[in-house]
Amino acid sequence: MKNLVIFASGSGSNAENIIRYFADSKDVTVVAIFCNVAGAGVIDRAERLNVPSELFSREDWKTGHHIDDQLSHYNPDLIVLAGFLWLFPERLLAKFPHVINIHPALLPKFGGKGMFGMHVHEAVVAAHETETGITVHWVTAKYDDGAPIFQARCAVTAQDDAHAVANKIHELEMMHFPRVVEEVLKDIAQKA
Ligand code: GAR
Repeated sequence: MKNLVIFASGSGSNAENIIRYFADSKDVTVVAIFCNVAGAGVIDRAERLNVPSELFSREDWKTGHHIDDQLSHYNPDLIVLAGFLWLFPERLLAKFPHVINIHPALLPKFGGKGMFGMHVHEAVVAAHETETGITVHWVTAKYDDGAPIFQARCAVTAQDDAHAVANKIHELEMMHFPRVVEEVLKDIAQKA
């Protein structure tokens, strides 16, 4: 059985979609949700879906006190960042090299510090882009910088505001992300 740990800071719709996708899997299980925001929607979702959640502080994140041991306890084969907004530190990447992130734009466009959630869609509309999409990529210690694994695209029309773009991106994420996670896990297993 492969262990998946998800990091999320917000509503958690991607986390929930991934948990549901693997709910009946004999090969993959979501063992925990790690969250840095007290009261985030993802914590309620985890509870409803019977997945343990671990809340951690900025101090934990910086020092590694508690969190490194907690993470080791879950023995993740893959860590998935699904709307997680802090930089993933070298310290953890050295221990857990298999970390992927989903970004709601076609990287390298509209990435980097401060580019998350609605900020991304607002920037896409302001730049009069005619398409946008999602990128799943390997995580490095820089924002949105690692090698891309998967992209999917959608059109942006002149009528689309940032909310319309957000809806299109949400659809793409729901459609593709769990399957991409599954493929990455298969690749990791093959190379092991
Ligand atoms: C998703 O759209 C994800 O791509 C984005 O945050 C949203 C989280 O939604 N991530 C970033 O912007 C990272 N830079 P969710 O909490 O409902 O899954």
